[in-house]
Amino acid sequence: MKAYQITGTDGLKSLKSVSLADPNPGPGEVLVRLRAVGLNFRDYMNVMGIRGVTGPVPRIPCSDGAGEVVSVGEGVTQWKTGDRVVIPFMPSWLEGEFSQAHASRALGGAVDGLLRELAAIRAEALLPVPAQLSLEEAATLPCAAVTAWDALHTRGGLKAGETVLVLGTGGVSIFALQFAKLAGARVLATTSSDEKARRLLEFGADAVHNYKTDPAWDEWALAQTGGRGVDKVIEIGGPETLNRSIKATRFGGHIALIGVLTGTSGEIQTVQILRKGIRLDGIYVGSRAMFEEMLGAIKKAEMRPVIDSTFEFEAAAEAFQRIESGQHFGKIVIRV
Ligand SMILES: NC(=O)c1ccc[n+]([C@@H]2O[C@H](COP(=O)([O-])OP(=O)(O)OC[C@H]3O[C@@H](n4cnc5c(N)ncnc54)[C@H](OP(=O)(O)O)[C@@H]3O)[C@@H](O)[C@H]2O)c1
Repeated sequence: MKAYQITGTDGLKSLKSVSLADPNPGPGEVLVRLRAVGLNFRDYMNVMGIRGVTGPVPRIPCSDGAGEVVSVGEGVTQWKTGDRVVIPFMPSWLEGEFSQAHASRALGGAVDGLLRELAAIRAEALLPVPAQLSLEEAATLPCAAVTAWDALHTRGGLKAGETVLVLGTGGVSIFALQFAKLAGARVLATTSSDEKARRLLEFGADAVHNYKTDPAWDEWALAQTGGRGVDKVIEIGGPETLNRSIKATRFGGHIALIGVLTGTSGEIQTVQILRKGIRLDGIYVGSRAMFEEMLGAIKKAEMRPVIDSTFEFEAAAEAFQRIESGQHFGKIVIRV
């Protein structure tokens, strides 16, 4: 099979197109022919060798994939050839609490990922792709969408009428915008671009703020809520945005700490978290059970993921460059 491997720490030069032996499905496994792979900022970090995230090499990158069942291993009865399936980010985390064991099986990091033609995956991890979604759309869901769902619903307990603040227009934030609107919430959104601000309004954001031209987006969010603060924040920035997120959150509000776009450590005003009784929740994607619940909501609402751009397998490097450019709005997909 054709695949890509990260072979070193020389950025895109270390991303090599290789030919590997086809995998065979073992007992309880399903052989999936990948048709589409969705990219996340994490995949870009892994390929670029950004410190703290890089796994051992050679490593097949990318966690998010959807495709068709080619064959099934011994004992597998629930899937048949041709079924359209999507693969969860941590195939061992079926339900219940998160654990180190699940984290150590995250695709495209701790173990080989899905930027390849074939993968053998345990049968009980797979999920059926709803008829309304293409495989390219399904491939956008495992990391960013499940993370947004976990942040807002599983851990956030979002209610209709609450106000959600989403930062930027990447994969996680656009899914959070869509899920929050489906739940009847009010959405405040920030972006660095006036053109993206226009699109955010088209996608249902109730108010938008350009954080490049006016960095005081925390003051803006407070003003938008009559000084009270927002109920929930989708925190994708990290150290350089968290203090403003804390300021923008109401007493008793919830911050889903998701991203590392501005780094992995920094100075945080811890006293404001306790003074305001804020729940600061570290989120690392979510379980298959959360994914299933989310797919049910997507089906019911006939929601479509927002795809920014699609690249052919041979042009995978260009897809990573598109993430690097920061010009994308929503998800980037590679056809396999
Ligand atoms: N914890 C988890 O389970 C989990 C899951 C998925 C992702 N993540 C993390 O979450 C972050 C976002 O991931 P993603 O895949 O959605 O990324 P992405 O699609 O590459 O999104 C990047 C976008 O974020 C916005 N942005 C960048 N710097 C910003 C800043 N300082 N303030 C506000 N917005 C900023 C920009 O939007 P504009 O161009 O509109 O300004 C940029 O286009 C990454 O750090 C990723 O590693 C974590």
